[in-house]
Amino acid sequence: MVMEKSEVKALPRTMGIIDRYREHLPVSDKTPVISLLEGSTPLIRVDRLAKEIAPNLTIYVKYEGLNPTGSFKDRGMTMAISKAVEEGSKAVMCASTGNTAASAAAYSARAGLDCIVLIPKGNIAYGKLSQSMIHGAKVVQVDGNFDEALELVKEMTSNYPITLVNSLNPYRIEGQKSGAFEICDVLGEPPDFHAIPVGNAGNITAYWKGYKEYLEHGKISRLPKMIGFQAAGSAPIVLGHPVEKPETVATAIRIGNPASWKQAEAARDESGGLIDIVTDEEILDAYKLLARLEGVFCEPASAASVAGVRKKAAQGFFKEPATVVCILTGHGLKDPDNAVKMASEPFNVPPTMDALLKVLGY
Ligand code: F0G
Repeated sequence: MVMEKSEVKALPRTMGIIDRYREHLPVSDKTPVISLLEGSTPLIRVDRLAKEIAPNLTIYVKYEGLNPTGSFKDRGMTMAISKAVEEGSKAVMCASTGNTAASAAAYSARAGLDCIVLIPKGNIAYGKLSQSMIHGAKVVQVDGNFDEALELVKEMTSNYPITLVNSLNPYRIEGQKSGAFEICDVLGEPPDFHAIPVGNAGNITAYWKGYKEYLEHGKISRLPKMIGFQAAGSAPIVLGHPVEKPETVATAIRIGNPASWKQAEAARDESGGLIDIVTDEEILDAYKLLARLEGVFCEPASAASVAGVRKKAAQGFFKEPATVVCILTGHGLKDPDNAVKMASEPFNVPPTMDALLKVLGY
């Protein structure tokens, strides 16, 4: 399915996802809506990138980095925090590789809730840490990985009156499924393939739920194939067993035992899709290509979707012309260190035109 440009509808960001998709969400008139006007993110057609990595595909990227806190987590967090307030909760808690924490911290601030975030020490990008801190969350660095932090959060939230806001909280999935609605609202039908990074596996679960619900409501006539990508050093679903010491440059998806493992497998199998591996090198190449060819800056984990499409295209997986949507889950500014490391050094000049012309080769 290839859309003509004139068929693509614009999404105004005048409301958040709860108001926009109220009829599809477990909310009532009594639910206090805690929103930062998340969602309605751009679906950008990237022809220069497609020409380079998969010429028989029409590729769109869903730029989730343009959500209020810079990642897709805001879609689920507006739901989780609104329901927490509705249910009378005073505090929320999550384990996070950074983005969930940033989003939980911001939405908690807006709701006036206490927020506790557990992050794996030394393995979260600086931009994300700065967000949790400025929004006033209690930030706890755990000398362990995400999986270990999540175990602590599960135990603590089952013993104390604190609401868990990881994607094990079903309201998170409910909110995140709105991404699928938006894609269908813009394109008229789902893409043929939906490419997505997989970490804790909540997002692939949510998108698949969203597409299936739109089909049930008669808003679309078919479903996409879900193609998920894990980083090679953190690929438990692909390997078929937990990874005790997950590693990858894409710290957002440095997860060895995903909470929504079974649901991710269901999305893969029901849709006739796949979950595959991309190496750190492939991730960083895709990250750079997107920035250089399309002016789109995402964080490394997000580029796993594009890296995966590139890898599958090179293997001849896409037999016919098709439309692919790649979810770019987080903004590049979350993790500027990686970008600076990959580029060449800036030029240094004294303030003279001669020196300037010389370094620029004019
Ligand atoms: N991309 C980014 C930028 C993420 O932050 C995450 C997850 C994912 C992809 C994977 O999504 O877990 O639903 O499969 N970040 C979580 C966090 C784990 O704590 O911020 P998933």
